[in-house]
Amino acid sequence: MARVPEELIDQIRQSVDIVDIVSDHVVLTRKGKSFLGICPFHDDSSPSMNVSQEKQIFKCFSCGAGGNSFTFLRDIENISFIEAVRKLAERAGINLPDTRDRNPEQQEAYDELYRANELAFKYFHHMLTEDARGEEARAYLENRGISREIIDSFGIGYALNAWDGFLAAATRRGFSPQALERAGLATTRQNGGGFYDRFRHRVTFPIEASTGRTVAFGARALDPDEQAKYLNSPETPVYNKSATLYGLWRGRDAIRESGQALVVEGYMDLISLAQFGVENVVASSGTALTADHARLLRRYAPKATLIFDGDAAGTSAAVRGIGSLFEVGQEARVVALPAQHDPDSYVREHGPEGFQKLIDSAMSAPDFLVEQIAKREDLSTADGKARATHELAELISRIGDQALRQFLIKDLAEKMGLSEDSFIQVIQNDTRRPPQRRTQDPTEPAPPPFDPRPRDERELIILMMQSNEAADAVLQHIPSADFSNGTYRQIVDIIAQNRKQNHAVDVAYLIDQTNSQQLSRIISDMSLELGIADPDQEIFPLPDYIRKFQIRSLDKKIDEVEKQLRNQMPPEQQRQMLEKHRELTSQKRELINPVSQVISS
Ligand code: CTP
Ligand code: MN
Repeated sequence: MARVPEELIDQIRQSVDIVDIVSDHVVLTRKGKSFLGICPFHDDSSPSMNVSQEKQIFKCFSCGAGGNSFTFLRDIENISFIEAVRKLAERAGINLPDTRDRNPEQQEAYDELYRANELAFKYFHHMLTEDARGEEARAYLENRGISREIIDSFGIGYALNAWDGFLAAATRRGFSPQALERAGLATTRQNGGGFYDRFRHRVTFPIEASTGRTVAFGARALDPDEQAKYLNSPETPVYNKSATLYGLWRGRDAIRESGQALVVEGYMDLISLAQFGVENVVASSGTALTADHARLLRRYAPKATLIFDGDAAGTSAAVRGIGSLFEVGQEARVVALPAQHDPDSYVREHGPEGFQKLIDSAMSAPDFLVEQIAKREDLSTADGKARATHELAELISRIGDQALRQFLIKDLAEKMGLSEDSFIQVIQNDTRRPPQRRTQDPTEPAPPPFDPRPRDERELIILMMQSNEAADAVLQHIPSADFSNGTYRQIVDIIAQNRKQNHAVDVAYLIDQTNSQQLSRIISDMSLELGIADPDQEIFPLPDYIRKFQIRSLDKKIDEVEKQLRNQMPPEQQRQMLEKHRELTSQKRELINPVSQVISS
């Protein structure tokens, strides 16, 4: 198996800043020496993830996820370690030898899906912008006021009015029809009569995963008689609908900067807003926002504003969207558009300033909910009020975040004219089971819980992580075999290996040397305790640790000898054993009460 040389991995890691890497996915705020953010690896509601710029590692206090820049990227983007190395190399402008050929089969299958989508992206875009057959689509977009700049920036394209436009082009480039079907770009005839293009005679909108890669397409029919106005790629191994929001990758910086995401329904709504300079937008592509979507948004901004049609369908989508946002502890606001308008038509008619005014007039989610319920239920009757209360209770019971829950209970109770206590009572009675926690999708089967004992072994390794000198001192006096905890033995072995190669001890580097997620977690855990251990300070005097270890290891040997001495043995052997015992005990005595020290001081 070809490998990326370790020096290169090292160089790449040192050329990037973990704070930048994590910031691509999580909003971080500075807290003293480190940064804090919502952990993306579990259903977090208050910031439990700590990112240390100094140590170049991240650590979640709540779920235990931890590691360095490579492992963060690997886990958040669900890619292989080597793929993460490659990405960071690119970012750092470092050339890597090509190691693609050694990727496992699975990776190859994923790559094929990515490459097929990538090719479709180029092909559709080319047809729209360069090919004579794209004329009708060009005219359509021009008519809708979409500029060439926006067409390029969104990679908008055109799928020919043919059964095998893309199919033919892609098979010529070596893709099998089966692979194109797996990528959602081709379909088979019902009666098994071969393959044809999924997207025909449509304007195409590439959909990017939250990692920036094209994984699917949305496509609008050009023919007004076509039954399905929009057609989307099916889910594939690289396209998970509930984990994808249209426009998120492109708008992520604007969302971060403005502190809120605007959520619209349609592709064209988002594109039109971008053309008018409103960039902090995502589109839910015609469905209500799911909790997964909300979780994704929460990584970028604490607030979301839902913009929807004022009709019944739009309202019910908004109510469901609020539920999803609440479920993940996200602050929600809502804007109902005047009848006959969608964001696209609204911004065209009223301009960006008019649109901004609309956003500024957004209602808080609780106000909106009570208003909606009041339209359906007569809150002046006991019956109507009871139904409304149960409905709100259901929503509240899904909220995991304590602070948001308390706030909403208070707010909604007041708005409904209930006492807080009676509202809480209803919520409790209605809640048959506690809200279900999302299960993590582990890349490894859950390892048995790690037992961090004994404490002094742990502290000693923490000291070793502190400096080359400390590591060398320990290694010189204590063989790794003397550590009773197997995991600690492994870590000491890795440190010993590094020092032999004259590599400085460095937590982020150590993590690269491990090939188990559990081990890298443990190392990053321990490194967070680094601050408390100082080899020069009196609380953790290194020589004392070493002596303690040596004493313990002598104790073991002495025990062993004493055990053997209890057996029958030839006198000569017994004499030797006794001699050994004397030697060991005097070594121990020397360690406990060092003669040399007494003399020299
Ligand atoms: N949608 C879909 N399939 C449909 C209809 C709609 O996937 N058959 C999704 C699309 O993402 C679409 C969004 O729902 O962008 C909103 O639908 P709609 O309001 O009907 O379309 P617009 O976005 O307004 O489309 P256009 O302006 O191009 O008519
Ligand atoms: Mn529209």
